[in-house]
Amino acid sequence: MATELQSRAQPSPLPAAAAGGIVVENVSRAYRGSRGEAVPALADVSVRAARGELVAVVGPSGCGKTTLLELVCRLQSPDSGWIASAPAALMAQRDMLLPWFDAVENAALALRIAGHPRSRARERASALFGELGLEGFQRARPSELSGGMRQRVAFLRTLLSGKEVLCLDEPFGALDAITRGEMQQWLARALQREPRTVLLVTHDVEEAALLADRLVVLSGRPGRVTAELEADIPRPRSATDAAVLALRQRALRSLALSARAEGALA
Ligand SMILES: Nc1ncnc2c1ncn2[C@@H]1O[C@H](COP(=O)(O)OP(=O)(O)OP(=O)(O)O)[C@@H](O)[C@H]1O
Ligand SMILES: [Mg+2]
Repeated sequence: MATELQSRAQPSPLPAAAAGGIVVENVSRAYRGSRGEAVPALADVSVRAARGELVAVVGPSGCGKTTLLELVCRLQSPDSGWIASAPAALMAQRDMLLPWFDAVENAALALRIAGHPRSRARERASALFGELGLEGFQRARPSELSGGMRQRVAFLRTLLSGKEVLCLDEPFGALDAITRGEMQQWLARALQREPRTVLLVTHDVEEAALLADRLVVLSGRPGRVTAELEADIPRPRSATDAAVLALRQRALRSLALSARAEGALA
C-alpha cells in the first residue's frame, strides 16, 4: 500500500506510480531561520526509485539530503510538490539508539514495535550480530560501543523493520575503510537475498558507484538535481571494476560542475 503526502488539494496519481518504490515530484522545502527568514533547503527536486531499486543521493554538506529522507519517511511535509512511497524506515544520520536498552534490544526495537514477542525478536536480531562483526556485544549498552558499532546496530534495526523502503542517511560514515567495505558487501548481498527499495545518502561516491542502480547528484543549498547517472553495472561489483571506477569519476565530475555553477552564481 502506498501512502501519500501532498501539498495541494486535488487527488494525485502518485501512490499508484510509487507501487513499492518512491516518487518525489517537484518538491520544495524551506526552514525558518532564527530571524524568521526562509532558509530554502530543497528546490523543485524530483527523484524516483522503482520497487527494488537502490538510488544513491550525493551532494555537498547542507544541500538538503537529510531533509529529503525525512520527507520520504513523512517526518516532515513538503512546502510544495508531491511525495509517495511504500512504508519507509529511516536510519538517521545520528544513530538514535536508546541508552537504557542493550544492543540486541535496540536492534530488535522495530520488531518489538511491530508486535513480535520479546524473546523471538531478540533471537532474530542476535542471530545477525556475528555477520555484522558484533558477536559478543549483544548485552552491551550503547555507551559501551564504539561509534562504528553503534552505527551497525542502528543499521540492523532499520533492516529488521521489514519495511519495503529503506532510507539510509550516511549509514557507514563512521566506519573505518575496511569495515565500511565489508558492510557495503553485506548490504549488497542482503538486498540480493531480500530486495528492498533503498534511498541511500552518502558523501562517498565510491560507495554510491558500488551499490546504486542510479545516482542522483544534488547542487549546494538549496539542493536541486543537477545530474542523474545510471549505474547499469552487473553485480557483484568491486571498487576496482573499470565500470565502477568510470561511474565514480563521472559522479565526481558532476559534483565539481554543480559546485562551480554555484560559485558562478554567488
Ligand atoms: N530544523 C531546521 N531548522 C532550520 N534550518 C534547518 C533545519 N534542518 C536543516 N536546516 C538547514 O537546511 C539545510 C539542509 O539541511 P540538511 O540537514 O537536509 O542537509 P544535508 O545535505 O543532510 O547536510 P549534511 O551532508 O551535512 O548532513 C541546511 O542548510 C540546514 O542548515
Ligand atoms: Mg544530512
